[in-house]
Amino acid sequence: MSSKTWAAVDDYIVSSLFEADPVLDAVIATNRKQGLPAIDVSAAQGKLLSLLVRIRGAKRVLEVGTLGGYSTIWMARALPADGKVVTLELDPHHAKVAHSNFERAGVSKLVDLRVGPALQSLETLAAENAGPFDLIFIDADKPNNPNYLTWAMRLSRPGTVIICDNVIRDGAVLDEDGRDPHVEGARAAFSFIGGDKHLDGTAIQTVGAKGYDGFAIAIVE
Ligand SMILES: C[S@@+](CC[C@H](N)C(=O)[O-])C[C@H]1O[C@@H](n2cnc3c(N)ncnc32)[C@H](O)[C@@H]1O
Repeated sequence: MSSKTWAAVDDYIVSSLFEADPVLDAVIATNRKQGLPAIDVSAAQGKLLSLLVRIRGAKRVLEVGTLGGYSTIWMARALPADGKVVTLELDPHHAKVAHSNFERAGVSKLVDLRVGPALQSLETLAAENAGPFDLIFIDADKPNNPNYLTWAMRLSRPGTVIICDNVIRDGAVLDEDGRDPHVEGARAAFSFIGGDKHLDGTAIQTVGAKGYDGFAIAIVE
């Protein structure tokens, strides 16, 4: 089974189950044209995020790691009219592209984009009493996973859903002696979720257009 098959099956999933969405396709095209790395979630993953927002009945969503706002738009579109996604991005160029993508997708009123190191933005959000959030998607610099999970717990309440992306990394998550900071970040997410008695979680391995990876998902108890 090859990555070519995984990508083809992803195409099949999308063409069978969703309406064609020229706006989201244009967002991906813009992100590439503007030189952003191709590390947005896939369409099938974006759809999963939007379903999770709806399943949870989330009104307040926090995202750590915006890039060009592709995943943000999927989640924003699943919110009620008085909902909000607060999304945090370090890179001003990524944030500028995301801002224009939010305009194009007609979700600007539903999105609060904060530019700067996420750890600083999270501190500001806590000072503003911006929590609790109903769903939190962590998808930024992986070595900070434990810090983001710590903040996620502070900005959550029982019932909050926390998703942490890219925790399988081609199976490298098994490499307990490795020194790859991304793998260490993935393993730290497992230690955090497994070790916090207020979190009940699992992780799902995924293959698809983005290769072999996976995400952890947990509910705050
Ligand atoms: C994997 S991408 C996010 C993809 C996005 N969630 C999507 O699926 O469309 C990670 C993003 O996190 C940003 N990032 C990295 N370190 C960060 C930090 N310390 N604070 C905030 N954002 C950061 C990167 O600039 C990048 O845009």
